[in-house]
Amino acid sequence: MIRFEKNRELDMAFSNFLMSMIDVNKYLTEILDYTGKILTPGMEKNLVSILKKYNVPYDGLKYDIKKLTDNPYYRDIKLSRVCTDTVRYEKDIIRKRTLISMNFHKPIGKYLFHYHPIGYFETDIEMPVLKEGDRVWMSPAISEIESMGDGIERGKGKCLTMGLGIGVLPYLWLLKDQVESVTVVEINQDVISLFEEYIRPQFRTDKKLDIIHGDALEYYNEEFLSRFDYVYIDFWESTDDGLKWYTKLMEKKVNLPYVDYWLEDTMLHEVKYIVAPYLTALYKGMSIADYISSMDGDSWDIARKANRYFKTRNDVIRTEDELLGIIHDKSILREILSI
Ligand SMILES: C[S@@+](CC[C@H](N)C(=O)[O-])C[C@H]1O[C@@H](n2cnc3c(N)ncnc32)[C@H](O)[C@@H]1O
Repeated sequence: MIRFEKNRELDMAFSNFLMSMIDVNKYLTEILDYTGKILTPGMEKNLVSILKKYNVPYDGLKYDIKKLTDNPYYRDIKLSRVCTDTVRYEKDIIRKRTLISMNFHKPIGKYLFHYHPIGYFETDIEMPVLKEGDRVWMSPAISEIESMGDGIERGKGKCLTMGLGIGVLPYLWLLKDQVESVTVVEINQDVISLFEEYIRPQFRTDKKLDIIHGDALEYYNEEFLSRFDYVYIDFWESTDDGLKWYTKLMEKKVNLPYVDYWLEDTMLHEVKYIVAPYLTALYKGMSIADYISSMDGDSWDIARKANRYFKTRNDVIRTEDELLGIIHDKSILREILSI
């Protein structure tokens, strides 16, 4: 079992981890009053002072609308004709100066603080939305596009993605010179049919786009993945269901450097929220059984995995750097989930 030397440096480090988790809650509570609201100049000033108080990086809340309107998917693909038995189009208007999320949450600092990039556009903007009943099913929202940024950027040669959605990533890949072809694995035949009828005909490219009707979990194996130059896995709706699916993938122990996962850092941040208190309990000599049983659902499962992983280690942690090295190490977090 991993062990710790009891010292002041580690006392402080554990206390800072805890404080950073408390600060996130305080920060989120403070900005909640502004989210989704049209910001008056006075509200904007107050909001900026909150961001500064928590050292949230920001260079103004005003977002350049061109980030959205110049995006080739937003510009070229019109969803207004979409109408199926289950999915229908709606035009949403985001009013100018409405505070919205521009991306999924991002970690900052040495400990566990994180924030959502937020901002507003200076003019009203039309946002196409596909709805399933009252629920937004898909939309080329700025947060979706921004959060796929690394995956879009890294795409080259033969690309594979799992999860078709409305085909934002396939389209943006196909427009890149470095991308030769795109393959997509999609489980839902209705999604494929919608795409084939309404979306693919608008794609301004002749490059090869193959869609395989199948389950990502079955295709997630080294033999299949090694046919591609770059792979981006994106078949969850958000971090809420994502961590469960991402864990299932890690359990398959495929480890290829050219495979990335949508929202991976955000999901691993959730794992850190379980691992850090687990290590704190261990450091303070508290009952690990009590810690694990205080968790529920997927967190309980991850806490048990963490316990199994740390039992296999025999090292002694003496410094804050060593502790940070464990909590923030992607390969350790992936290994914990893979157990
Ligand atoms: C968030 S969307 C993907 C968005 C897509 N990246 C885009 O650019 O529009 C998730 C998609 O994954 C599909 N999906 C869900 N579970 C799946 C599975 N096990 N295998 C393959 N596709 C799956 C859903 O039907 C949905 O189309």
